[in-house]
Amino acid sequence: MHTQTKAKRNTHTKTIGFILFLIPFTLMIYYGKETFYIEQQLTAENTYDYHFVLITEEVGNDYWRLIEKGAKEAAEAQNIYLEYIGPKVADNDERLATLDRMIAAGVDAIITKGMKGERFQQLVQKANNQNIPVATVDTDNEQSARAFYVGTDNTHAGYLAGETLINQTTGPQKVAIVTGNTEAPNLQQRVEGFQNATKQTDRIELIGVTSSQITELGAAQAAYQLLKQHPDLTAFFGTSALDGMGIVQAVEEMQPANPPHIIAFDTLSETLNLIEQEKIDATIVQYPEKMGRLAVELMHAIKQGKTVDTNYHTQTGVIDKTHLHNGELVTPIEEGETQ
Ligand code: BGC
Repeated sequence: MHTQTKAKRNTHTKTIGFILFLIPFTLMIYYGKETFYIEQQLTAENTYDYHFVLITEEVGNDYWRLIEKGAKEAAEAQNIYLEYIGPKVADNDERLATLDRMIAAGVDAIITKGMKGERFQQLVQKANNQNIPVATVDTDNEQSARAFYVGTDNTHAGYLAGETLINQTTGPQKVAIVTGNTEAPNLQQRVEGFQNATKQTDRIELIGVTSSQITELGAAQAAYQLLKQHPDLTAFFGTSALDGMGIVQAVEEMQPANPPHIIAFDTLSETLNLIEQEKIDATIVQYPEKMGRLAVELMHAIKQGKTVDTNYHTQTGVIDKTHLHNGELVTPIEEGETQ
């Protein structure tokens, strides 16, 4: 009995001791981390020449990660602190709020995906009034007072997609478009370009345009619905980076008797693999790393008092199976280059 009480007391002492240890330990970890974070920020401000911000459409999106990669490389070369920031999941309001916050924070320059509408234009003007230049990357808003745009000529890229569909198919085609976001100006331009090309022939009929909310799952669901509503559908055009792979998922799920022809966008490795497996027929090329790099370089030039052009179209082109071997590009892309 006596031994039992002693053992119990021992356990209590140990528990209390552990709690007493846990409280300061937790506080140390928490405040230690906070101090470290603040120090990191201070170091960033102290040692870099400029603080630029890159506002993305979606932080984790692989296509935007490539823009970030190019931008970070250029920033490092010019001693610029580059902050990559944006919503976790595509959200226009959040992106506008982030833009406003960055203006209030007084950063040295902002590079952002351009957005449609007056609010975006007002914010660009507000930034300019505070001597913060704003550039658009990937998507433009020409009416805004942005300093310059770096990205694909999206109407031309959409045209290439339409032209590719014409070249790669014969006979009448019923085509559906799965588009990242029906409100995004760059994707609207791609759809417009695609239609400009396909209306040159009466062989191709556009039967529907559905949004994927720029996710692979969204694209799969959109394509699934389109296939269900239009069993006679013969082709798809996916206008943004994850749409092609989503369309393939839906086709694999539905197993239509005649698999549709698929034109995708961008060169993420999964898309290239699907081209080699003959599940996607072609994809339209963009150069996101180059966009990021060039945007930072031009913005740096502006900060150095130089004048730059207002429009920089990065190249585009078409990739099909003949360009690829083991996921790598083996044949140079020539067709459709704009520069
Ligand atoms: C577009 C971006 C978009 C991305 C989505 C790209 O093709 O250029 O605007 O954010 O796809 O995955």
